[in-house]
Amino acid sequence: MADATLDTLVTGGTLATEDGAFAADVAIANGVVVAIGAPGSLPAGRETIDATGRIVMPGVIDVHVHFREPGMTHKEDWDTGTASAALGGVTTVFEMPNTNPPVDTVAHFRLKKAAADARAHVDFGIYGLLAEHNLAELPGLAEAGVCGFKLFLGNTTGDLPCPSDGAVLEGFEIVAGLGLRCTIHAENSPVLFWRQNKMRAAGRTDVFAHLAARTDVVAVEALSRSAIFAEWTGARIHIAHESCAASLPHIRFFKARGVDMTVETLPQYLYLDAESMTQPGGEVLRMNPPIRQQANQAPLWQGLTDGAIDMISTDHAPHAVEEKYNADIWNVACGFPGVQTSLQLMLDAVAKDRLQMTDLVRLMCAAPARAFGLYGRKGVLRPGADADLVIVDPTAEAVLGAADLASRGKVSAYEGRHVTGKPVRTMVRGRTVALDGRLTGSRGWGRIVRPDMPTPAPKNQNTTTKAILQPHQRPW
Ligand code: DOR
Ligand code: ZN
Repeated sequence: MADATLDTLVTGGTLATEDGAFAADVAIANGVVVAIGAPGSLPAGRETIDATGRIVMPGVIDVHVHFREPGMTHKEDWDTGTASAALGGVTTVFEMPNTNPPVDTVAHFRLKKAAADARAHVDFGIYGLLAEHNLAELPGLAEAGVCGFKLFLGNTTGDLPCPSDGAVLEGFEIVAGLGLRCTIHAENSPVLFWRQNKMRAAGRTDVFAHLAARTDVVAVEALSRSAIFAEWTGARIHIAHESCAASLPHIRFFKARGVDMTVETLPQYLYLDAESMTQPGGEVLRMNPPIRQQANQAPLWQGLTDGAIDMISTDHAPHAVEEKYNADIWNVACGFPGVQTSLQLMLDAVAKDRLQMTDLVRLMCAAPARAFGLYGRKGVLRPGADADLVIVDPTAEAVLGAADLASRGKVSAYEGRHVTGKPVRTMVRGRTVALDGRLTGSRGWGRIVRPDMPTPAPKNQNTTTKAILQPHQRPW
């Protein structure tokens, strides 16, 4: 029986959720999931998608991508970046503010949003910058609709200066009152610059020098300082690109104390290692924080299932090919593309029994949605949710390579790697935006998402930087 009000019925597939997998059909109308039912129990829609033998899962949410527009469109733009996302099964991206101009004012937010509105294939959030020079802008940015804030404690592409600790604390006080989550690039800039400058002065240019500048304590210290400030102020924080086994006990400690802190790691830290940077072209692995010694991998995998690490994102960081190769490591641009391959890499871990499919759905869909106030609309397939979904062929074999990337950054850190499991269809709000490796949506289909966060819970408000400006105010 057909139902004229239904647009699409996805039938015959296995629905993967955080809790388990079961045979189910999914009915979609007006871009929203309207019913999930036993196989054959739902009326047919105008379109039927046969998912027999396939896994149906929520669209991946990647809370850490760099799409470079405005200002660095020779590396990427909203069209090529979100095309990569669509092909990779990613239906929502959060884009970082280290563009030119950075997203430090409402006007700059609007500039970026106009580019994204015009060209995005998938839904998107836009981060605002938290920097020393723009603390007064944070409430306006929140009002305008940023998905959260980004604080660069560690230096990286864009060379945004690290704010002083005083400014960071005041920034957290403001962010705590707004309730949005602040994502942190947790590396200690003074330490890494000190070490980098000394090595450069000593003539060190080899591939290991970058990691030597940013040795573990650089990450552990910045993480811990961030967590202490977050606990004090009540700011919600998110630790970007956790790369380091030595951070994990600290993460567990602060989480046990009740700090509202979420943590992401990236496929590159799970799969790649610094030791292999001596191979020809190994310098492409230069990124921030650095890819560390192989011994970090097993603890990071462990962290995915024991609660230390909440989610997987990509730090998709494309550069022009010529910017990625240089004999002098200090002249190699930091980062490489990832948004198109993260789901494939993690599906491969499921195929190899390294990860459960339930964990994958939690780490790539549900947890990012929960952390950033999207859960219910995104990150889960249930009646009322946006029909953002990926249909996966769990047995399809593929060989990863730069030539297949829609990204302008035609550099792959996974060139030639064999993986099992592949997204064959990506749907954003009911529309198929990628099918069998081809784009089928259109530029401009993507829409901005606005977080719906719990009520802000600021702490120690009598002693904030703002409060102590009142004459005779007692800081207790
Ligand atoms: O390697 C990186 N590249 N790490 C970052 O934190 C930023 C990124 C970029 O924007 O290129
Ligand atoms: Zn990044």
